[in-house]
Amino acid sequence: MESLSELTERARADITASADLTRHDEVRVHWRGKKGLLTEQLKSLGGLPAAERPAAGQRINEAKSRVQVQLDERRGLLEHDAVERTLSAGRIDITLEGRGEQSGGLHPVTRARLRIEKLFSDVGFTVAQGPEIEDDFHNFTALNVPENHPARAMHDTFYLEPGQAGEGTLLRTHTSPVQIRALRAGKPPLAVIAPGRVYRIDSDATHTPMFHQIEGLLVDTDVSFAQLKSILHGFMEAFFERDLAMRLRPSYFPFTEPSAEVDISCVECGGKGCRLCKHTGWIEVLGCGMVHPNVLASCDVDPDRYTGYAFGMGIDRLAMLRYGVNDLRLFFENDLRFLRQFRGG
Ligand code: DAH
Repeated sequence: MESLSELTERARADITASADLTRHDEVRVHWRGKKGLLTEQLKSLGGLPAAERPAAGQRINEAKSRVQVQLDERRGLLEHDAVERTLSAGRIDITLEGRGEQSGGLHPVTRARLRIEKLFSDVGFTVAQGPEIEDDFHNFTALNVPENHPARAMHDTFYLEPGQAGEGTLLRTHTSPVQIRALRAGKPPLAVIAPGRVYRIDSDATHTPMFHQIEGLLVDTDVSFAQLKSILHGFMEAFFERDLAMRLRPSYFPFTEPSAEVDISCVECGGKGCRLCKHTGWIEVLGCGMVHPNVLASCDVDPDRYTGYAFGMGIDRLAMLRYGVNDLRLFFENDLRFLRQFRGG
């Protein structure tokens, strides 16, 4: 039989050779476990003469504690190594240059819209919304564009299939239907602006099938055309942050009478004439007019008692003018090199 010292020497070699915690555990069980080699030694005591048993038992117990101490030391070392390895695997090199924060920014069209909303909210307008899938009544009929009226041809409308969203539905061609919804939902006096997406079958450098408009509507007693002119002029100067000349040209919209188109002095050349204004010195920015009595009547508002003004403008167009963008399609291509230029501020 192996001597106790030979056994403890083998145990020491095993412990020192255990390279990781799993192996260490196997070694521990092998030597110190319930069926371990040293425990077996104790069982063999029964074979010794009674007089020798105490001394032999003591030696075995001492050997067991020595092995235990070696096991504990080795375990401590291996645990320390394991922690070191995890730490160095996930090591952060604090001397490396930072990657920087990627901050997002608002889309230029959103920025222009928020700016317009703010300027009109400041003078008492509330923001209204309407659906992009409209019906014929709100988009045309209630706006004084009866069926078969030639004015319908002014809008290249996307009609939905009858099965898609109900009979007579279309993608709204302008934000003007929100006038009808606002007037039917609340009684005058009322002042709303309604921003949103509109759709027309059109696509070139200055037209996209989807674009953004903002509608304005104010209905009260004794509303005058002069008030309309003044609020629009004030808005344009605030939006472009400069003094601007403004002129109104007579025009036609079925839902306003009289109607006008509004030009401002060119934001590029100040009115001297350049490519942007096609050498006229003027830039067309919106359509407007006094709300047609038929529109008021279609919303159960008494046209003899109330008057109102309305206007509609292209948000994308205003954004192009403000930021000096010459192709509308850039706004919708989502090229980050373009969009990043509007970050911040
Ligand atoms: N809805 C018109 C369009 O899309 C713009 C417009 C013109 C709106 C005159 C108005 C208005 O409210 O009074 O072309």
